Amino acid sequence: MGSCEKDNIFMKPAGPIIVGAGPSGIAVAACLKENGIPSLVLERSDCIASLWQYKTYDRLKLHLPKHFCELPLFGYPKNFPKYPTKKQFVSYMEAYANHFEIRPKFNQTVVSAEFDSEHGVWRVETQDSVYESRWLVVATGENAEAVVPEIQGIEKFEGVVKHTSEYKSGCEFTNQRVLVVGCGNSGMEVSLDLCRYNASPFMVVRNSVHVLPREMFGMTTFGIAIALLKWLPLKLVDKLILFMANLKLGNTDKLGLRRPKTGPLELKNATGKTPVLDTGALSLIKSGNIKVVEQGVREVTRNGAKFMDGQEIAFDSIVLATGYKSNVPFWLKGSDFFTKNGMLKTPFPNGWRGENGLYTVGFTRRGLLGTACDALKIANEVTCQCRPMSGDSKLEFRSK
Ligand SMILES: Cc1cc2nc3c(=O)[nH]c(=O)nc-3n(C[C@H](O)[C@H](O)[C@H](O)COP(=O)(O)OP(=O)(O)OC[C@H]3O[C@@H](n4cnc5c(N)ncnc54)[C@H](O)[C@@H]3O)c2cc1C
Ligand SMILES: *[C@@H]1O[C@H](CO)[C@@H](O)[C@H](O)[C@H]1NC(C)=O
Ligand SMILES: *[C@@H]1O[C@H](CO)[C@@H](O)[C@H](O)[C@H]1NC(C)=O
Repeated sequence: MGSCEKDNIFMKPAGPIIVGAGPSGIAVAACLKENGIPSLVLERSDCIASLWQYKTYDRLKLHLPKHFCELPLFGYPKNFPKYPTKKQFVSYMEAYANHFEIRPKFNQTVVSAEFDSEHGVWRVETQDSVYESRWLVVATGENAEAVVPEIQGIEKFEGVVKHTSEYKSGCEFTNQRVLVVGCGNSGMEVSLDLCRYNASPFMVVRNSVHVLPREMFGMTTFGIAIALLKWLPLKLVDKLILFMANLKLGNTDKLGLRRPKTGPLELKNATGKTPVLDTGALSLIKSGNIKVVEQGVREVTRNGAKFMDGQEIAFDSIVLATGYKSNVPFWLKGSDFFTKNGMLKTPFPNGWRGENGLYTVGFTRRGLLGTACDALKIANEVTCQCRPMSGDSKLEFRSK
């Protein structure tokens, strides 16, 4: 059935349509609001920052120090610790949205957005409504959907299988042997959390990975990297960071965590792969509480897994720490601004503006720091386009 046959609600909001009420979407709406420009935020979930509220584990704290994770115009409360907890971060987001009076429209899943060149507007369809605006801001995030790999035999497994987006705490895994697939920040932290609940995690590490200390010499590793990058080329900064990391952590290769040939910052820039910032998992790997399995999983059986080298181990549960992906290709039509994986073709810092009033925020692979940067640029440009059109006081938005 075509969309025209549905009993659709049709709306032409004043100002841009922003898809996604995560930190990125809220930040753009706030920066626009500050300039007197209204916007409409469409969100599939029933709250703001739904990734943080619904899809993260209880023990999560910001990975980076708070001043690198601040949204524009309204900072963290002074009494927040250096690494705010998930609860604190969510309360910050709520205070932020309240401060700028951002009220997203919830339960609106954008299923299609396409530029209508005849009328010069973006036509945005959700499951039950159609919206039109001159501006479309894509803020659905780099982590919109869980990546769940196909593993042979997994349907036969009798225990629990969970993606990290559904993992809350190790509480339900007490005394279990748990296969953790993936060794990024999530895999490491879930393994750490499992140990605290007396479970035995076996972490599959198939690829190489950079593990760095979260802090070195009383400073945050991220802060050191940013400071050094102001003066030194990236490759040299990588060398220095790795030198210091090896002093502090020892040779991680010996633990089964092989370092990639490319340095951590260069790799991040080239592929988006984030280094792991260690929050305690490494010492549990050293002590043998977290077991590193250097073989890929060949197949899952009724009660365990067979690995590539033929070894078979019994497990009670499986946690897939296999990451997330963008969902932009599923709903943004007729634009070649994104790759087929839903990431930007244009590298930072130029990816925030597409054609025909298309904008993107939060696709820089630079976390909330990138979001803050994009949000201000978008708001300033849209504001410039609105002002000449406004009458004495009341803004008016018309299609061509
Ligand atoms: C475990 C974890 C820890 C992290 N820690 C940090 C950190 O310490 N520092 C940091 O800077 N970054 C961190 N990040 C990265 C984090 O994702 C971003 O910083 C931040 O959440 C990005 O905000 P966003 O608004 O771009 O995306 P999201 O927070 O993912 O928000 C996107 C919103 O869009 C909505 N949406 C998606 N598709 C649609 C659709 N079709 N229609 C309508 N709505 C839709 C989603 O429901 C969601 O609410 C972490 C990520 C994870 C998973
Ligand atoms: C969300 O939208 C769907 C489809 O329009 C509707 O059936 C459902 O009741 C809505 N849920 C809430 C919580 O409003
Ligand atoms: C970072 O990546 C971009 C391409 O995405 C490349 O053009 C640039 O040279 C890289 N920077 C460094 C310092 O490697």
